[in-house]
Amino acid sequence: MPPRIAVVGSANVDLTTFTDAFPRPGETIFGKAFDLGFGGKGANQAVAARLCGADVQMVAKVGNDLFGPATVKNFQSFGIDATNVHIEDGLSSGVAPIFVDKTGQNRIIVVKGANDSLRPEDVERAAPALQQADCIILQLEVPLSTVYHTIRFAKANRVRCLLNPAPGQPLDMKQVTQVDYLIPNESEAEAITGLPVRNPDEARQCAQRLIQQGLRQVIITLGATGALLANSGKAELIPSFPVNAKDTTGAGDAFIGSFAVFLAEGLAEAEATRRASLYAALSTTKVGTQKSFLQRPEFEKEWKKRAGS
Ligand code: RIB
Repeated sequence: MPPRIAVVGSANVDLTTFTDAFPRPGETIFGKAFDLGFGGKGANQAVAARLCGADVQMVAKVGNDLFGPATVKNFQSFGIDATNVHIEDGLSSGVAPIFVDKTGQNRIIVVKGANDSLRPEDVERAAPALQQADCIILQLEVPLSTVYHTIRFAKANRVRCLLNPAPGQPLDMKQVTQVDYLIPNESEAEAITGLPVRNPDEARQCAQRLIQQGLRQVIITLGATGALLANSGKAELIPSFPVNAKDTTGAGDAFIGSFAVFLAEGLAEAEATRRASLYAALSTTKVGTQKSFLQRPEFEKEWKKRAGS
């Protein structure tokens, strides 16, 4: 049986401009290239999980505009169950103008649109499907009240719950400590704890603070440096794999979606983290988010080549 993964979260359309420079106020400059694609942290994580072989359920809201119905079709084209993706009248779909510089690093502005209307009632409506899941994945591009409600739902129904606290913002730790895994990147970990995360040592201190606050498992992703896996007993830095990055957008989502699948397949955390690190690194070698994610057989080939490196 393939793992069953449910994602409660966002769906956006990404408008990506590749540019070496940024305009000053009042200035117009030329960008190098443009890419239009389906994105949103929740949707990207759902697609990554699906491409890694899971049965995936998406719970989301999109707008009744050009992008909304196309987003639903996109989920269906991947074989993701979009029964609980609703088109909301009178709202725009979520969009993300993204700017990628010559090093492949991104800067993103998210306009939440219909994502902001995903309510606890929508989660309750999807309850029969969510109760069947091996893992529920959450991020922060939908209202916090919905995120907290889903965390309580997962706990009450004994479904593993994984929170990617992105975009970073201060959180109610009483609610957040109920998740099984908290997986922030450096800036998101900093937004939650107020502690700087500029290197593995600072990541260790930050993870320790989160564990002291009551979290069971924390993984701080550190880009090309790797990922720090921490619980009350230990903190282990799992190095990343070297690649030629073209566009890092969505790499965190590739990590989260694939990690949920590897874990649900029964791999130990360190092994699941190592594999997810490679899955994420490989996604940066292509442009875009969902379209840069590998199918499982392609990933397995790369894993065989690089495991142990
Ligand atoms: O994590 C990358 C995603 O962040 C993009 O797809 C964009 O839509 C924003 O949600």
